[in-house]
This record gives sequence, structure tokens and C-alpha cells, in this order.
Amino acid sequence: MKFSKFFSNLQEAPWYRQFLNPVIDEIENGSNLLDIGTGSGKMLEILSREKNVSGTGTDTNSDMLREAEEKLINTRTKLHHISAGEKYPFEKGSFNYVTICSVLFHMKEKEINHMLMDSLQVLKDNGKLIILTPTGKGNIIELTRRFFSIENRGIYVWYRATKNRALLWSKNQYLKLFAIKNKLKYESQIVMHGFAQLEIINR
Ligand SMILES: C[S@@+](CC[C@H](N)C(=O)[O-])C[C@H]1O[C@@H](n2cnc3c(N)ncnc32)[C@H](O)[C@@H]1O
Repeated sequence: MKFSKFFSNLQEAPWYRQFLNPVIDEIENGSNLLDIGTGSGKMLEILSREKNVSGTGTDTNSDMLREAEEKLINTRTKLHHISAGEKYPFEKGSFNYVTICSVLFHMKEKEINHMLMDSLQVLKDNGKLIILTPTGKGNIIELTRRFFSIENRGIYVWYRATKNRALLWSKNQYLKLFAIKNKLKYESQIVMHGFAQLEIINR
């Protein structure tokens, strides 16, 4: 099975909705949003169907975008294939929100900076940049206590695959430092029973 199909199936489990919920709860009905590294598009699907959000998704992986197209049938979401480091094909100040979920903590420092700067450019003045990342904290017993069900069995793969990079991300406080350096507002919340972190940056 292709990784994109595997990931797309993983996103359909109840635990994945719990992972995405803190971001979904931040988004106002009827707003417009850019989701960078949208993968197989689950969050854009939920936001479009449940909150009438006009979504745009970008990703560097064409297989992921093909999966996203399937999920996003009959929504008014737009998808763009981009290359890493490519300038975004969007006007300055276009979006109420830019979301980056489970993407930055895999990237190198220079690429992270580039992605954050480009995101701020396409955000409206009062817009919010929302970043969701696993924390890598907790343990298998706690994970089982909180999420155990047959449908949620994929959470163990996710936890193991993300743990090391996620712990580094939590420890380095990259976004907090980025916000201080660029005189931006920053807030952070631990969510999903300690297994994820929501970070919000705005002007
Ligand atoms: C773990 S998936 C997360 C998908 C989705 N955001 C979610 O939370 O379910 C990470 C995605 O980021 C994409 N990605 C990696 N580097 C990227 C970049 N520089 N620009 C856009 N997308 C990128 C990958 O192709 C992949 O689809």
C-alpha cells in the first residue's frame, strides 16, 4: 500500500479527529484558510463540511494531494502542488488563517523560517497562524488509557514515528523564539491529553 493511502486511512480514525479538534475549534465559520502540508486533506474536509470554510491546501507530495482530492469531492476547497521553498502562489493578506499541522517539526531550521515568513505574508493583518505538533510526551500506557479501541490502533504507529522529533520540537520552543525575534504575539496550549501542542502566532 502506498504511504499516502495508509496515511489517508489513518486520518479516518476517531483519534485523528481528536488530534485535529484543537485547530478546528479555533476556526470561525465561513472564514478562509490556507493549510500548508495538507497531506490527504482530512482537516480541510472537516472545515469545509462543518464550518463552511473556504479552504486552500498545499503539499509537496502529489500522491497525498490525489488522496486529498478524493476526500474533498463536492467541497469548494482548492489544492496546489508546490515545491519545497517555492514562493506561494497567493496574494499578500489573503487568508484569515494559515494552519501547519504535523509539518514543521520534521523540517530543518532554514526551511522552517522560510515557511513561517511566507505564511505571515499571505495572512491578513488580524489573521492567525496556527501550528499543531505532537509533543512526543507521555507513554504507551497513557496512550492506551486515553485512546484504546480497535479503530484507534494506528495511534501507536503515529506515536512511535513522531516521538523523537516531537520531543525535540517541544524542548527547543522554536516558535516561541521566532515570535519574540519578530515581535509577534505567541500563545501555546497542550492539548489531546498531553500528546499534542497547539501554538498560535499573530501580529
Ligand atoms: C504528517 S503529514 C501531515 C498532513 C496534515 N497536515 C495532517 O495534519 O493530517 C506532513 C505533510 O507535509 C508535507 N510537506 C512536507 N514538507 C512540505 C513543504 N515544504 N511544503 C508543503 N508541504 C510539505 C508532506 O508531503 C506531508 O503530506
